[in-house]
Amino acid sequence: MQNKTVLITGANDGIGKATAERLARKGAHLVLACRDETNAQRTADWLVKTTGNEKIDTLPLDLADLRSVRSASELFLADYPRLDVLINNAGVYCESLERTRDGYELQFGVNHLGHFLLTLNLLPAMQCASLCSRVINVASAMHANGGIDFGNLRGERGAKAYDGSAAYAQSKLANVLFTKELNRRHGTELTTNCLHPGVVGTSLANKKGKLLTKTIWSLYKPFARSPRRGADTSVYLASSPEVQEVSGRYFNPSQCLIKPSPTACNAQLARRLWEYSEEAVGEFLL
Ligand SMILES: NC(=O)c1ccc[n+]([C@@H]2O[C@H](COP(=O)([O-])OP(=O)(O)OC[C@H]3O[C@@H](n4cnc5c(N)ncnc54)[C@H](OP(=O)(O)O)[C@@H]3O)[C@@H](O)[C@H]2O)c1
Repeated sequence: MQNKTVLITGANDGIGKATAERLARKGAHLVLACRDETNAQRTADWLVKTTGNEKIDTLPLDLADLRSVRSASELFLADYPRLDVLINNAGVYCESLERTRDGYELQFGVNHLGHFLLTLNLLPAMQCASLCSRVINVASAMHANGGIDFGNLRGERGAKAYDGSAAYAQSKLANVLFTKELNRRHGTELTTNCLHPGVVGTSLANKKGKLLTKTIWSLYKPFARSPRRGADTSVYLASSPEVQEVSGRYFNPSQCLIKPSPTACNAQLARRLWEYSEEAVGEFLL
């Protein structure tokens, strides 16, 4: 990964941090795109210290705020000539209805919409890369439980009707549909793949889960995959020559290419989601 620039969202914790560490050890120039600048800097300092790689930068990015996504994109494009690998890793799991600054249901807004805008804005830096750039979307096997409820993407049905787990599944389905549609539209210019990292012992469910979920998760966490192992497929997709020309596919935690759910393979739905997303982020596109 020498001479490769890699941007990782949510690189200050969990799978993103573990991915950053492993790619730093491979010599990549990393850009840690995180919402909390202090955490980002702390992670960057830790990475420099533990890996000896000094090419670690930070970029302020709040995916729950499309204005922030736009400024992060502008800052990146001004500072870096190209982007070799974009890892859309950040994510939130939330059991009560919350909305982004722009009024979208939080999980849809952060897990899908923010990444959708970031990717589209960074396309010029990826299309000009000398070798084919890679977009990697960290999805989840939970996508198979999801559908896209176009009438509720702003939480229109209200807090009482809110099902956090279904909303998470919806956002992860959106990650797979986005992968398919980005590949359909830009597959000759870059590769796009997505993955399920496994059930990984991070703090994802502890941050905005309800008490019962937090308790169950805390008990289960020691038996889950380590974040380091959870990073296996992201690292593989970012760095392996084996997947240099593979695109539009979904990978499991063992780096095997598998078929996502039938809904995730619905090309018409993928197109509709793209069109919805494009309109939603319209004024923030560069
Ligand atoms: N853990 C699992 O079992 C599992 C399974 C399947 C898929 N995944 C997926 O794996 C990815 C990483 O999750 P994880 O398990 O590593 O969770 P995590 O440890 O909670 O890490 C999530 C990262 O996303 C960041 N993030 C959250 N909201 C953000 C926002 N508005 N703007 C920018 N960054 C934001 C977090 O920042 P803060 O530290 O500031 O909160 C954190 O750095 C997610 O996409 C998740 O859906 C995880």
